[in-house]
Order: sequence, then C-alpha cells, then structure tokens
Amino acid sequence: MSSSALRLEVAHSVLYVHDVDQMISFYRDMLGFEVTDRGPIGPNEIVFLSQIANHHHQVAFVTGRDEPSRSVTTHHTAYRSAGTLDDLKALHEKLKADPAVSAIRPLTHGNAWSVYFQDPEFNGVEVFIDTPWHVKQPQGKALDLSRPNDEIVATTREAFADEPEFGDISAFYQRRAEHLGARRGG
Ligand SMILES: [Fe+2]
Repeated sequence: MSSSALRLEVAHSVLYVHDVDQMISFYRDMLGFEVTDRGPIGPNEIVFLSQIANHHHQVAFVTGRDEPSRSVTTHHTAYRSAGTLDDLKALHEKLKADPAVSAIRPLTHGNAWSVYFQDPEFNGVEVFIDTPWHVKQPQGKALDLSRPNDEIVATTREAFADEPEFGDISAFYQRRAEHLGARRGG
C-alpha cells in the first residue's frame, strides 16, 4: 500500500478555549454550528460541534485555555460554504456588528471569495465560497462586498485573468483527478 492510499481529508480542528460558553454561542449563532456532544476530558470539558451530517464534529473546544491571545501556530481555519455571494455579504455585515469579532477582512484569492476574521478568542477564521475559476496560488486581492454581485464576478475575473493558470475550475479539478489517479496507480 502506498501512503497515498490513505486518502486523508481534513475532518476537524480542536481548539483550546478560555470562555467555552461565549465560543459555543459564537460558533452557533454566527457560523451555524450546533453542539453534537459534550463531556469531561480529564479535568476539562470537550464540546463537539458540527453542521453537516457525516461529521460528528467539525470543530471542538477543550476548556482550560489561559487568557486568549493570537495563536502562534495556527494561521487560520477555513470553512468552505456552498452559499452565495449574498450569504457571504450577510455574514460580513453580521461580523461587523459583533464587537467580539476582530480583524475582519474580505479578500479574494481568485479561486475563492473570502471573509477573514478573528473569533472572540482571536483564532483566525476564513469563511469562503468558490469562484468559478482556478488560478495559481498564492493570490490575494481586495474584495469589496458592498458592490453588486455581477460587478464582483466581473472585477474578480478581470483581476485574475492574466495571472498564471487562470481558467475554469472544472478543468483544474479534472487535472488534479488525473494526477491523483496516476499517483494511486489508476
Ligand atoms: Fe485560507
């Protein structure tokens, strides 16, 4: 068995938290998660959260964190949404209205429309939706979510059209599938 036969996917992140109730409220009310289970883990508590059927938890909190400060090891955790630009705009407005949220920054990588922010304990979070395109990474350009959706689509396409590998995302997925198939031996 080659190592690639494992076919790993990211399943969950477990964060140490300082104020578990505040973190549960934020991930529930702002991001749509629900608590699936909770219980003791040594002297602390673990709280599991998910919002999709086939992952018991996508994120979990373990109590016992000292006064929170920005992580020195995790840059951010990204959550991909199947939603629309309107959904991303609505989240952006909701984030701006919450004083516990910091460092709110809409951004486009060309292959994604994203809003970056720090949750109430300064964990870096990205919520993104896919664009129709692939472009060689890293990329990051300003995203003005106050503009109409068709304008955002047009300006994003314009902004990345001359960057390396720009093209339809379906073609990129096809190339990746072929590469991974060859890597697994067909
Ligand atoms: Fe990211």
